[in-house]
Amino acid sequence: MKILVTGGAGYIGTHTVIELLAAGHEVFVIDNYVNSSPLALKRVAQITGKEIPFAEVDIRDRAGLEMVIAGAGFDCCIHFAGLKAVGESVQLPWEYYDNNIGGTLVLMDVLRKNGCKNLIFSSSSTVYGNPAIIPITEECPKGLCTNPYGQTKSMLEQVMMDMQKADPGWNIVLLRYFNPIGAHKSGMIGENPNGIPNNLMPYITQVAVGKLEKLGVFGDDYDTLDGTGVRDYIHVGDLARGHVKALKAIEDKCGIEIFNLGTGTGYSVLDVVKAFEKANGVKIPYQIKPRRAGDIATCYSDPAKAEKVLGWKAEFGIEDMCRDSWNWQKNNPNGFEE
Ligand code: NAD
Ligand code: UFG
Repeated sequence: MKILVTGGAGYIGTHTVIELLAAGHEVFVIDNYVNSSPLALKRVAQITGKEIPFAEVDIRDRAGLEMVIAGAGFDCCIHFAGLKAVGESVQLPWEYYDNNIGGTLVLMDVLRKNGCKNLIFSSSSTVYGNPAIIPITEECPKGLCTNPYGQTKSMLEQVMMDMQKADPGWNIVLLRYFNPIGAHKSGMIGENPNGIPNNLMPYITQVAVGKLEKLGVFGDDYDTLDGTGVRDYIHVGDLARGHVKALKAIEDKCGIEIFNLGTGTGYSVLDVVKAFEKANGVKIPYQIKPRRAGDIATCYSDPAKAEKVLGWKAEFGIEDMCRDSWNWQKNNPNGFEE
């Protein structure tokens, strides 16, 4: 297939471009580099031995999108472009609604006007809020999102459902990611957060590399085995393959379908610290801190639907994820710098 990848210079996008090319697809990437570096795509070109066709375009820029999409004959769009920092979204709600929702509305309009009504969208387990069922199936009702970032995912899912209902010519796959970590085995691409990381794994790797002193563990009094928060961490390579498999649903003219992409196993914060130390032989000093506002105790998926319908299943374990995250960080202590 010929696939337009928005946000393809980012963390999940770069890994997905590699898997798409390996599966024989043709890609075209657009990104505005608001949270990524042109070097990331250069590294993808080195890894794959292929040039990555690319345009620097903001998804809110209708004319820019028209230039890329009109006449190009895309079969599908995989839509990663978006802002994703939970805390920042509380400070900058307008910017998040404008970028994520405004941008996606323009993108979908330009796509449909140019005859491409196949879309795979990066959603998130955050739409389940404090989940009503554990493990979380796709039938679990959506919950209350405590921040504008989560709202944008939940609202965009609704927009897509309404658009597909009104025009059954659309085929849309909503992929609800659990917690992506890890990096490509080459150590050449990986997650590159700005400033002090908010998420657990990049914080751990920055402690390991000596940039940060110790990990703060947010709460040890949750109703979990060791009292720390439990999440479903998934290797970004597995997640990337999930997108390739999701193309099968598009080919099968799925209408609209939701899939959880997780491993189905929950690990606590302290489990991850121990797995990291074991996989890499590096000590991670930590200190118990108060709970972080908005956090829930436990969140992990039931990924059975993706296996049954798409034939996709996560293959990497938690130690693989820790090894690959560390391999990326230690080879690139300052992220994408030449
Ligand atoms: P990322 O920030 O690394 O990648 C997103 C890319 O989109 C970046 O390269 C950024 O420059 C680009 N972008 C943002 N706004 C844009 C715009 N207006 N026009 C063009 N490009 C734009 O993030 P990621 O971790 O790769 O996440 C990809 C997608 O998956 C996002 O939509 C994110 O919300 C979603 N998601 C991520 C996670 C996670 O934990 N990483 C979890 C669930 C869902
Ligand atoms: N944690 C710490 N210390 C830290 C960072 C995190 O103890 O310095 C804990 C959190 O309290 C939580 C767990 O580690 O229990 C995971 O936290 P992350 O911030 O890595 O991930 P979240 O589950 O909070 O959320 C992330 C994204 C969301 C996304 C969700 C699922 O921030 O946007 O994964 O994909 F929706």
